[in-house]
Amino acid sequence: MKFQRVFGTLPKTQASAPGRVNLLGEHTDYNEGFVIPTAIPQRATVQIGLSNDHKHHFYSAEFDELINFSDDDTIPQTFVSYICGCIGLVEKEGYKVPPLNLYITSNVPIGVGLSSSAALEIATLRGLRTLLNLPLDDVRLAQIAQLAEIRYVGFNCGILDQMAASLGDTNSMLFIDTRSLNRRKLRFPKNTEILVLDSDETHKPAGSLYNQRRVECEAAAQMLGVKALRDIEDSQAVEVLPQPLRKRARYIVTENNRVIEAFKPLPAKVFGQLMNDSHTSLRDDYELSVPSVDTLVEILQETPGVFGARLTGGGFGGACVALIESEKASSIATEAIARYQSAGYTGRVLVPPAIAF
Ligand code: GLA
Repeated sequence: MKFQRVFGTLPKTQASAPGRVNLLGEHTDYNEGFVIPTAIPQRATVQIGLSNDHKHHFYSAEFDELINFSDDDTIPQTFVSYICGCIGLVEKEGYKVPPLNLYITSNVPIGVGLSSSAALEIATLRGLRTLLNLPLDDVRLAQIAQLAEIRYVGFNCGILDQMAASLGDTNSMLFIDTRSLNRRKLRFPKNTEILVLDSDETHKPAGSLYNQRRVECEAAAQMLGVKALRDIEDSQAVEVLPQPLRKRARYIVTENNRVIEAFKPLPAKVFGQLMNDSHTSLRDDYELSVPSVDTLVEILQETPGVFGARLTGGGFGGACVALIESEKASSIATEAIARYQSAGYTGRVLVPPAIAF
């Protein structure tokens, strides 16, 4: 069903935003550290028109669901909460949002760690910016989207996903200092591309384990007398901490150092090794992985043409990202998925979408 079929009028504007895959710097954002995501080709798109009653009407093409919503209603915990969050926070910035007809479609895979929610938030905010002529820049959109997620969805996330969706593109990697929000586009290592496979293990970033890691990191920073773990450069400094804080802080400090290392142009092999080291420490120190993901990462790391691989996103399941030789995505994916299947699991290609099978 198209916009006109659902709402009986034409949209006034359309906007979209991509999902992201994070290459290095996992869970460093809420430690005020460094990250290197890139946008993926899949996008969320919203078309927006004006509603002719006093209610908002939100339609999701993926769920084939229409939700009518007025400002006094309780916000349902569905895709609508992201949109209500964006609208509510734009109003808090002082801009009146009229009742809307909003049509959403997205091909960003949901629930695998590729930020389908940030794509939806940024697409919505871009649409509102155009519709209402709002003087909000791309960084401000990311900050509003992050707050929408924290206040309206209840997921206490960092700003990685929203910055990547708002400022990233598929042709470069986006280095971000999540404390200052300074950023720089970096080139991919020569003759490389990104392959993302789904481990088919449900990922639960919003779960209590994500929040538990946040609390552990904050406790470690406090014991070390710093504002955030980003302020520790020497990984030896964490050795005074009790367990498990020592392991958690070791991961964050070494991960930040890996991201800083990757700020300079590196050969593919060296960048790939940083990704492999990242996975090892995520698994052993941050304890963020699960056996199926470890199996898939190991298979990828052993496959010819792969420079490096790791789990990506919130963790505890979801997608794995690999840096691979250009134009080998199809053969590498076929081989890795066949081996993953022999190990008893089911995998699928998420990026590049052209070879998703
Ligand atoms: C989720 C959160 C991000 C970030 C990643 C892990 O995607 O939304 O803020 O913490 O997990 O790097």
